[in-house]
Amino acid sequence: MKMSSTKDDIIKALLLANGEAVSGQQLADQLGMSRTAIWKHMQALQEEGYKFETVKKKGYVLKSMPNLLTAGEIQSFLQTERFGQQIHVFDVVDSTQIIAHEKARNGAKDGTVILAEEQTLGRGRMTRPWESTKNKGVWMTVIIRPDIPPQMASQFTLVAAVAVTKAIKEMSEKLQPEIKWPNDILIRGKKCTGILTEMQSEPDCVQALLVGIGINVNHIEEDFSADIQHIATSLAIEAGEPISRARLIANILHYLEQYSDLYVTQGFAPIKEMWEQSSCTIGKKVEVTTLREVFTGVAIGINEDGVLQVKLATGEVRPIYSGDIKIIN
Ligand code: BTN
Repeated sequence: MKMSSTKDDIIKALLLANGEAVSGQQLADQLGMSRTAIWKHMQALQEEGYKFETVKKKGYVLKSMPNLLTAGEIQSFLQTERFGQQIHVFDVVDSTQIIAHEKARNGAKDGTVILAEEQTLGRGRMTRPWESTKNKGVWMTVIIRPDIPPQMASQFTLVAAVAVTKAIKEMSEKLQPEIKWPNDILIRGKKCTGILTEMQSEPDCVQALLVGIGINVNHIEEDFSADIQHIATSLAIEAGEPISRARLIANILHYLEQYSDLYVTQGFAPIKEMWEQSSCTIGKKVEVTTLREVFTGVAIGINEDGVLQVKLATGEVRPIYSGDIKIIN
C-alpha cells in the first residue's frame, strides 16, 4: 500500500512549483530532513518512473510522471477542507469497499479515501460484479460521516451522482455526462460510472457511509469485456484524449465535500434540483425491474426523498425505491 509519504510530499512540492525549479535545500527545509535524504528520495522516484530535469544552482523540475495514482499528486490538486486529507492508494485489492469498511470500523476520519489501481472482486449494485481494469479507471471509496439518520442515507447516492457528474463535466467540454436513475452516469447513452453506497449505522444515526465510485477513465474499447462493450464507455473514448485521474479525483472530492455539506445543512431540495437538471431519465419511457416485477411506464420525476415516480398506462403513479431501469425511448 502507498500512503501519503515523503516521496508524495516531494512530488506535491514540485507540482505546486508549476514548472519552476525547486532546490534540494528548499525541499529539505520544507520536509524537515537533510539534503542527502532528499537526494535519496529523488533517486527512488526516478526508479519508479518519474523524470526530473536538474537545473544548475536552481534545483529540480518535474518533467513527467508514471501513469500511477499517488496521494501526493491528487493532494496537489485538492481544494477541500476535509475530503482527501487521508488517501490510501493500493496496487491491487479485492474491493475498495471491503478495505473502507474495515478502516471505517477502526475510526477513519470523515473524507478518508481508499483507491486501488485494480480490483479483483469489484462489486456493483444488486450484487453484480464491477469490472475494474488495472491502471485505467478510478476505483475509489470515500468514507463519509454525515450527521444524518439512516433513513436519509439512500439520498446520499444521489448527492454523489450529482458531485461526480459535475466533476466529470469540468474535465473536458466534450464530456456531457447524464444521470440515469438512481446513480449511473452515462455519456451518449453508454455507462461510464457506477456508484454504490453502503452504510455502517446504529438504529438512529449513521456511523459511516461508504460511497464507492467506479469510473471508466482511460479505457479503450478493447479494455472492456465483450459482454459490456456495447453498453460501456470511458471518459477518454468520449473526450478523444486521455484524462488525468488525479485531477478528476481531486475534482470529485471537491464537489462531494461541497454537496455533502449542502445536503446536511439544507436538505435534499437543492440536490434534487441539480439531479433533475443532469438527469436523462425524466420524461422518458422506462422499463422498471424490481426484485418482484418488471413493468413499463413514464419516469415523471423524483420526489422529495429521491424516490423515482413512474406513471403507468393506467394513470397510476408508482414509487420506485430500489431497482433498475432501462430507458426505452
Ligand atoms: C454499479 O453501477 O453497479 C456500482 C458500481 C460501483 C463500483 C465501485 S468501484 C469502487 C468501489 N469498490 C467496489 O467494489 N465497488 C465500488
